[in-house]
Amino acid sequence: MFSKNTVVGVIGAGAMGSGIAQVAASAGHQVIVYDSSAEALNKARAALSSTLDKLVEKQKISREEADALITRIAYEKELHSFRNCGLVIEAIVENLEVKQKVFSLLESIVKADCVLATNTSSFSIASIASASQTPSRIIGIHFFNPAPLMPLVEIIPGILTDNEVTRKCRELIASWGKTVVTAKDTPGFIVNRVARSFYGESIRIYEEGIADIPTIDWALKTFGGFKMGPFELMDFIGNDVNYKVTESVWEQFFYEPRFKPSLTQKRLFEARLFGRKSGRGYYTYGANAPQPTPVLDTELGKAIFNRVLVMLVNEAVDTLYLQVASREDIELAMTKGVNYPKGLLAWGEEVGMDKVLSQLTALYNDYQEDRYRPSLLLKKWSVRKQKTTS
Ligand code: NAI
Repeated sequence: MFSKNTVVGVIGAGAMGSGIAQVAASAGHQVIVYDSSAEALNKARAALSSTLDKLVEKQKISREEADALITRIAYEKELHSFRNCGLVIEAIVENLEVKQKVFSLLESIVKADCVLATNTSSFSIASIASASQTPSRIIGIHFFNPAPLMPLVEIIPGILTDNEVTRKCRELIASWGKTVVTAKDTPGFIVNRVARSFYGESIRIYEEGIADIPTIDWALKTFGGFKMGPFELMDFIGNDVNYKVTESVWEQFFYEPRFKPSLTQKRLFEARLFGRKSGRGYYTYGANAPQPTPVLDTELGKAIFNRVLVMLVNEAVDTLYLQVASREDIELAMTKGVNYPKGLLAWGEEVGMDKVLSQLTALYNDYQEDRYRPSLLLKKWSVRKQKTTS
């Protein structure tokens, strides 16, 4: 199905499309990038050239390699140039109708055996494929931002995707040097589902006045070993993007309370306090910005970290229970997709799954809120353990 000679088409020359094109061209493919905006195409071409110049300066690649890579990418204003593609990856605006239109147009251009992939973060593959004549060749290939640097790619077969298409896509993307995991076509796939409580529970702790923002960030970095605290990370991702992902996962899970967005973040989003890119989010950025200091209270810090950790572990366990992905893939997804210091299932075992269950049960009893409902799998494990030790 695929070989080094496979021509890869990329639709959308924005942040993701241009990164994906770079990855495919680095792996030796001829790549064609199409965007409806000529400006986006020009920008993408200029950005790639400057990225490669920097890599040459840092001696990460040779000048010859950089030049060869550039010649492998063609920027086209006509979708018709995709007719010889063996794989097309769509990375356009996150709008279902627009995506469906592009896929149905693509089908009138490409050959019958061309695989059509979407990089969507929030729509189901089933819904995108529904507008297609041949949904068996439509699949999700979800890269992380920035695509050339982030090792993880989630592969998401839709309900009608051919198994062979899934197998070949896994093989191809792995040959590009990526860590590949397979996820069921469920909201947020693996990473954007399991990571929700890293943000949500941290905001909840702040809303309750248990600690301020810098203290919560300090706690997660110091006691959890996370590279960035949740509020630093939300400001980095953008409170617009992060809020929208949370809202979409929550809505698509039929308003499951575990994924409920927070009013605090919604207000930041409404006020356009997006974070780093707008100069202010949870923190203020710039030369004269104040540097808030955390309260260095070890007991408090450990309690904050434990509460967020048990929520994360619960989500990972439930993701396993509902067979969204294998144990190995859930662990890989969180360590390679969002740089968590440990896989959450291994982390839960290290702490003791019984302890995770009892802490969640205590939270559930205190709050009487479904967001603290422990996964049934935690309970099953606990019962099994009791039986084997008695
Ligand atoms: P972006 O806004 O940077 O780029 C989108 C590009 O698509 C723009 O250049 C726009 O001109 C073009 N476009 C819009 N409609 C088009 C059409 N009908 N035909 C051709 N081109 C069209 O968006 P970004 O961030 O690159 O996201 C693209 C996709 O990747 C979305 O589905 C998003 O959910 C997904 N994604 C985004 C991630 C991120 O962190 N930015 C991470 C993973 C997935």
